[in-house]
Amino acid sequence: STAASAARCSLLRPDYTPSHIPDPNYVRIFDTTLRDGEQSPGATMTSPEKLAVARQLSRLGVDVIEAGFPASSPDDLEAVRSIALEVGNTPEEGGHVPVICGLARCNARDIDRAWEAVRGARKPRVHVFIATSDIHLEHKLKMSRDEVARIAREMVAYLRKLGCQDIEFSPEDAGRSDRGFLYPLLEEVILAGATTLNIPDTVGYTLPSEFGQLIADIKANTRGIENAIISTHCQNDLGLATANTLAGAYAGARQLEVTVNGIGERAGNASLEEVVMAIKYRKDQIGGLYTGINTKHISMSSKMVTEYTGLVIQPHKAIVGANAFAHESGIHQDGMLKFKGTYEIMSPDDIGLSRSNESGIVLGKLSGRHALRSKLSELGYYIDGKELDDVFKRFKEVAEKKKRVSDDDIEALISNELFQP
Ligand code: KIV
Repeated sequence: STAASAARCSLLRPDYTPSHIPDPNYVRIFDTTLRDGEQSPGATMTSPEKLAVARQLSRLGVDVIEAGFPASSPDDLEAVRSIALEVGNTPEEGGHVPVICGLARCNARDIDRAWEAVRGARKPRVHVFIATSDIHLEHKLKMSRDEVARIAREMVAYLRKLGCQDIEFSPEDAGRSDRGFLYPLLEEVILAGATTLNIPDTVGYTLPSEFGQLIADIKANTRGIENAIISTHCQNDLGLATANTLAGAYAGARQLEVTVNGIGERAGNASLEEVVMAIKYRKDQIGGLYTGINTKHISMSSKMVTEYTGLVIQPHKAIVGANAFAHESGIHQDGMLKFKGTYEIMSPDDIGLSRSNESGIVLGKLSGRHALRSKLSELGYYIDGKELDDVFKRFKEVAEKKKRVSDDDIEALISNELFQP
């Protein structure tokens, strides 16, 4: 019946709708932890680890998994192939199967390998790229603009002929490319068959206002762009990757390339957790956009990537850092004990984080009596008045010497206090 099929459709993502017309507010999350993320110095993962991360990304609900760069080594080709065969054919609850993507430079050898690696997936994609900035053309590729445009066009057409229908094209270093060259090049690759146009700020050089304007200008000036999805890929060299990505989404990009924990070349990429949570919590300020991510899997994904890559995140890392939901100063602790919204804009539950103590309070030298009393009652000691004053005095002495006062320290302190002769 119509009602039953409407109900079924509501479980599906916008790109599964029968008409293939995606909801204009739906933003696809393209995760490149296994490709750009793995390019972080020292972050190499084994094939079984890559497969485990891919399974987790699928659970998390990412739309596209960039599983690797198959031409870079036979091992990487095999890792991408096994991800395509397993993760790319195993629907999650609700029917979601991610697109499995492989990266390739604009040459037939790379493209053949990428296509060979991903073609076993239910939804295979190949992502081809070639640099378009003058600085890259002159010093790296040693090619003219005409040559680059020809190669881009021909390689996208070649990929089409192989049978690949989902083709992503990236003009590398787009953030520093001349628009007079960029727009016509993008038009040509759309005509040749590209379905996603990814706009990389390869060296993390643009400011959010500039990057947002670049996306808006591409949208306004590229013929045929309405037949493709615009994507962002922002590096973090100036610490602006998340801000630039959000500016790109606001300006019309509907695919955002990110990595778990923000890992990637040099200073990394836009971080999945920051971009997704900003869209979730500031939806109204960002044009009503939304993603298909199940944010409850964020904490586990972050831990898994830390474990497998060995790249430890800083304690104050937004969303997933050890301190992201911890409160130490007395004023903040007092506020938190009265009402969590005073100092927490989101709940740790929302990223699947269960904290060991309800309030997230960490005792240290800045903590006040209110926080100490609450911690004591959490540990089963209900004291007040003069007794609390004495314990608080002792606590301050301990806290002066230690960075953090643990539950064990409190237990020791209170037993000394209570059982003094
Ligand atoms: O940073 C970059 O330009 C890239 C492209 C391959 C998208 O990683």
